[in-house]
Amino acid sequence: MSFNYEDKISKAVQQVPPSAIRKFFDLANEMKGHVISLSIGEPDFVTPWSVREAAINSIVDGYTHYSPNSGYVDSRIAISEYLKRRYGVAYDPAHEILITVGGSEGLDLAARALINPGDEVIVVEPCFVAYKATVEFAHGVPVVVETKPENDYRLMPEELEAAITDKTKYIIVGYPNNPTGAVMTLEDWARIKDVLLRHPDIIVLSDELYCELNYLDGKPSSLTQFSELRERVIMVNGFSKSYAMTGFRVGYIAGPTELVAPMIKIHQYCIMCAPSMAQFSVIEAAMNADDEVVKMRTEYNHRRRVVIQGLKDAGLDCFVPYGAFYAFPCIKSTGLTSEEFCERFLLEKHVAIVPGNAFGKCGEGFVRISYAASMEDLKEAMKLLKEFVEDLKKG
Ligand SMILES: Cc1ncc(COP(=O)(O)O)c(C=O)c1O
Repeated sequence: MSFNYEDKISKAVQQVPPSAIRKFFDLANEMKGHVISLSIGEPDFVTPWSVREAAINSIVDGYTHYSPNSGYVDSRIAISEYLKRRYGVAYDPAHEILITVGGSEGLDLAARALINPGDEVIVVEPCFVAYKATVEFAHGVPVVVETKPENDYRLMPEELEAAITDKTKYIIVGYPNNPTGAVMTLEDWARIKDVLLRHPDIIVLSDELYCELNYLDGKPSSLTQFSELRERVIMVNGFSKSYAMTGFRVGYIAGPTELVAPMIKIHQYCIMCAPSMAQFSVIEAAMNADDEVVKMRTEYNHRRRVVIQGLKDAGLDCFVPYGAFYAFPCIKSTGLTSEEFCERFLLEKHVAIVPGNAFGKCGEGFVRISYAASMEDLKEAMKLLKEFVEDLKKG
């Protein structure tokens, strides 16, 4: 008789489907010959040298042990200085900042610290795949608000307000957005702030992993910048995207002590501390790498233009993204579903992209193209995309 595993695994875990992005990674990896991958959500740049060197030096100097649970004080001070410089907001490094294992841990900690079974969490889709999953793992109920291309994928105040109930515990917003590339300006956020002021019990979890990749003015814009909301906004941020540091596995939470302390408690028991060498890199990244970020942002911006032009040439509609490193064109005119489009594009033209429905139901009919890839690959991929769409038209 075989062991009944299904019976043993938590229902919450069983009910969450595996990430749909994975299927396309696996398919691309199995393919023989050269595949251009525009599917991955990570920078193609090597981490700036001084940031790598800081990690190396910390190992040479023997900093290879546990750090304090919240992170080394110098790393937290560096983050606090960064937030002052770039956002104009003040967080006390002693109590209001927790260094985490990437932004991912921050999303999970918030869910586990805040949710009681049955609490509702508003998730703004299309969005990063972890938002809904972290809520469901913590026995919360995700309530989806769909953003639309005609609104430039911004969160509309009336749509947020319509989703709020007396069970709403918090709302997760992620701008600049993965997968659409949408941004929210400070004026857009001010309208959201007005809604939140009418609902004083609701917490905000603001995922700002792409905060430096804003091509409108190069500056972060965020609900954290409104002092009226300070007591209930938790910023999840990190270095993975803006500093090309995905493998360092380091991020942070910034927020009021009362909300950060319960997350420190979970982190203390489950994680202990973020990798010590990565925390030394944080000091260098947060204090001395602004120029490197500008260089990468400038290059992404060039690529963004090439991709937008390529999509136009291929005859696909795409709202113009001003953030992160993604474009999210509409493929409905081809008559294919998102999955069919991506699968055939991969098999026939050897270019990997991701179906939009991986990021929420409203992503059906769209695909995500990452331009965190070389200009050469992007130009070739855009040429192949045009051919592919023309082939489809010919039938
Ligand atoms: C919007 C968003 N938030 C958070 C993360 C997680 O980032 P990290 O690598 O820092 O855990 C990602 C990674 O793709 C992301 O796209």
